[in-house]
Amino acid sequence: MTVKVEPFKIKVVEPIKLISKNERLKKMEEARYNIFRLKGEDVYIDLLTDSGTSAMSDHQWAGIMEGDESYAGSKSFFNLERVIKKITGFEYVVPTHQGRPAENILFSQLIKPGDVVPGNAHFDSTQAHIIHKGGKAVNLLLDEAYDPKTYHPFKGNVNIEQLENLIKSQRDNIPFFLMTVTNNTIGGQPVSMENLRRTRKLLSGFGIPLYIDAARFAENAYFIKLREPGYGEKEVKDIVREMFSYADGCIMSAKKDGLVNIGGFIALNDKKLYEQCCELLILLEGFITYGGMAGRDLEALARGLEEVIEEDYLAYRIDQVNYLGKKLDDAGIPIVQPPGGHGIYIDAKSVFPRIPQSQFPAYTLVVEMYIEAGVRAAEIGSVAFAKKDEITGKTDYPRLELTRLAVPRRVYTYRHMDFVAEGVIHVAKKKDKVKGFKIAYEPKTLRHFLADFARVE
Ligand SMILES: Cc1ncc(COP(=O)(O)O)c(C=O)c1O
Repeated sequence: MTVKVEPFKIKVVEPIKLISKNERLKKMEEARYNIFRLKGEDVYIDLLTDSGTSAMSDHQWAGIMEGDESYAGSKSFFNLERVIKKITGFEYVVPTHQGRPAENILFSQLIKPGDVVPGNAHFDSTQAHIIHKGGKAVNLLLDEAYDPKTYHPFKGNVNIEQLENLIKSQRDNIPFFLMTVTNNTIGGQPVSMENLRRTRKLLSGFGIPLYIDAARFAENAYFIKLREPGYGEKEVKDIVREMFSYADGCIMSAKKDGLVNIGGFIALNDKKLYEQCCELLILLEGFITYGGMAGRDLEALARGLEEVIEEDYLAYRIDQVNYLGKKLDDAGIPIVQPPGGHGIYIDAKSVFPRIPQSQFPAYTLVVEMYIEAGVRAAEIGSVAFAKKDEITGKTDYPRLELTRLAVPRRVYTYRHMDFVAEGVIHVAKKKDKVKGFKIAYEPKTLRHFLADFARVE
């Protein structure tokens, strides 16, 4: 059989409704063109994010009933701790309610003002937390990562030569290196085992610890199985274990590959650092056996982490995203190649060549997709990442201007992907008529969440 199907039956359904185009136009105006202000019920297919949007299995829902709500010593925490230790090999587990408190707690211990934190490409909240502690976040990617058209099996790899040069000039200011797997910012692209191994070797020579941002560790491991010589016959759980073996610890937003709607953790081997993190955890999140999660959330996460490394699931997951990418590519829509693990990233500069980066082509595509098809996407471009120099007033634009269609896990079918593709193709046909946007109001940090936009006349 060649037809691919979802490896599950659907036991509960949640109705969705496509409101009319006039209503969608009105909703957009009311939201001051910020898609974060739209109500979920006004969105037909929601590809804003794959974070916290997964559908849980019946086994996880059963865990919700069985969750132990003890303030201290919850059985569900010990289940979760056992699973994380088994999967990652790390000794100590600090639970948090999502990824950014894990960043906040770990970085508070490791970063001091003036430090430089290199990574393959930091996610926006990660970068914001590094800056918040007085550090500087440096992204060191391969040149291929900045060219959406070039095929490279591991576009998430760190550029080892650049890393070595940075270490030689800044050794005393580098508290650790952060490897994000897969790499969200540039297309959900994986990091190879060879790159992880080489990075570890380089860092060890200078005594610099390596941490993994593990939000999508299972998707990364599956790409290694598919694409890296020598790994095709290995089990995903063993690939995962090897990935983590090159690190001193990890932070994880479990809202992605944890297959849950809320959750996160830090896992590490350094006992002293673990104890310091626990002190801050109690101050910021809660006691060390729940860390901001309910007992039922801990239980659902323990089960989700075991399900996410099942090979049937991962084969379907990666194939469904690839299916959407192929539909768009066949229709001539320029996407980041090859398709990533958790979504398809459209090269918006090529879709709207007449809209300059100062008028946000990737964001314009997001707005148009909602108006035309009721599909909500996210911008990973100049709204999120352009930086204005306070002294010169000059704006530094990111090299890539991407619109991300993030696919929630186990939520939509292949047929939903057909609808999304049709919507994008329809918008692209109108490219000469579409006008860009300007920012009417912006907050100081992470402006994409709270900004107001207006159409350029
Ligand atoms: C790679 C990566 N790291 C960290 C985070 C932050 O996690 P959270 O949203 O759970 O705070 C995200 C969120 O999307 C992410 O993609």
